[in-house]
Amino acid sequence: MANKIFIKTFGCQMNQYDSNRIFDTVKKIGFSKTSNQSDADCYLINTCHIRDKAKEKVYHEVGRVKKIFRDKKKPILVVAGCVAQAENEEMLKREPYIDIVVGPQSYHQINSLISKYRKGRKEFTEFETKYKFDYLDKIKNTSSNVSSFLTIQEGCDKFCSFCVVPYTRGPEYSRPFEKIISEAQDLVKSGAKEIILLGQNVNAYSFKDKSKVYRLSDLINKLEKFTEIKRIRYTTSHPRDMTDDLIECYSYSKKLQPFVHLPIQSGSDKVLKLMNRGHKVEKYFEIYKKLKKINSKIEFSSDFIIGHPGETEDDFKDTLSFLSKIKFINSYSFIFSPRPGTPASNLDLIDYEVAKERLIKVQKILFRYQLEHNESFLEKKIEVLVENKMKKNQMYFGRNEYLNGVIFDGDEKFVGKTLKIKIDKVNQNNLFGKIDSNSDMRAA
Ligand code: SAM
Ligand code: SF4
Ligand code: F3S
Repeated sequence: MANKIFIKTFGCQMNQYDSNRIFDTVKKIGFSKTSNQSDADCYLINTCHIRDKAKEKVYHEVGRVKKIFRDKKKPILVVAGCVAQAENEEMLKREPYIDIVVGPQSYHQINSLISKYRKGRKEFTEFETKYKFDYLDKIKNTSSNVSSFLTIQEGCDKFCSFCVVPYTRGPEYSRPFEKIISEAQDLVKSGAKEIILLGQNVNAYSFKDKSKVYRLSDLINKLEKFTEIKRIRYTTSHPRDMTDDLIECYSYSKKLQPFVHLPIQSGSDKVLKLMNRGHKVEKYFEIYKKLKKINSKIEFSSDFIIGHPGETEDDFKDTLSFLSKIKFINSYSFIFSPRPGTPASNLDLIDYEVAKERLIKVQKILFRYQLEHNESFLEKKIEVLVENKMKKNQMYFGRNEYLNGVIFDGDEKFVGKTLKIKIDKVNQNNLFGKIDSNSDMRAA
């Protein structure tokens, strides 16, 4: 039987990790990956539910798949991810072209769902929390990326007013410490030089084994000892869980990168309260100051939600004033989007045009900071971990310590190595440069 799977991934890095692990799972029943969608025997859409029109995007995508396969044998169509969890069997009813709907906690069941489908049964799987990782722990992670994602924690107990994640990903669950380390060993064997630890609340990681409680700092300390690992990162962290043991890591770790993605969402204490974020703006400043004191090279990025119900012009001004105090080098900003089932979705929306105007103001500042930061690298030689050859222009791609993308004319032999690149051009998103002539000597 022909067995090719095409996976289309939307949403966060955790979805990207999940897509890789779904592939590791279906490989066991003979699937190989195809990058040509019209070749697929199984077409899997890994969905995201975080903002507007998530559901509509999925049905639109299904419509596209239908067109591609109009004159061909229909592929098995699987809808996975957070929309699948939120919508469940409704999707099978609304769109009969969909064959399997599987939520993020049930990927370990995908092979049996495919086999049941082949026997004529369409199914939605119920929410299960821990079993997914028990199953995945037994299968090797075959991702062979220089920079590899490793999920350590999943779900969220914080219930921010606006957020759908606690409903789609379930309660916080931390994977066993040893299982994570053993997966990191697999990744290293396949060529990983950078490990990005993932979780919806990655710094809430807490795993109790006998009398010891393992935290994110313990994972960082353990990974630090792997000689093959050159860089360690983690995302996404919450200010409430930015504990001193984690902050301390920045004072001695040689591999933890000096770049912290720490979402604040709003610069107004009143709005933070409405959002149920559980901390004030001052707490964020404290963390910022502590980290800067340890290492002034550390830079920050953040997430902002503009126009949360109840946000007045004065509250918005607080966000602008917050932005004048911290120069974020790269941030994400969104207009509040009411998500079904969340507390904020029952509140009165603020005028959309007002929210849009505010977003434009915020983005103008954030984009300027981002460009200024990128411009600070002009004519400098910076260390870049080379990740891959780019498909569209045959150039090579890597990242500096701040996660800036760096594009240069390279060579296959440098993939996985750290090179010095002299930057001669920048834009808001990327840096461009040439390999420093002495770099061959330094490639490590
Ligand atoms: N756990 C992370 C935290 O607490 O900061 C956030 C994870 S969420 C997947 C990523 C970002 O999406 C959030 O930081 C927030 O800015 C944005 N987001 C989530 N729900 C949203 C909504 N209803 N409307 C607009 N943006 C939203
Ligand atoms: Fe969503 Fe808040 Fe949990 Fe982050 S901490 S995943 S924003 S509920
Ligand atoms: Fe989206 Fe789910 Fe991630 S809603 S952002 S795919 S946790």
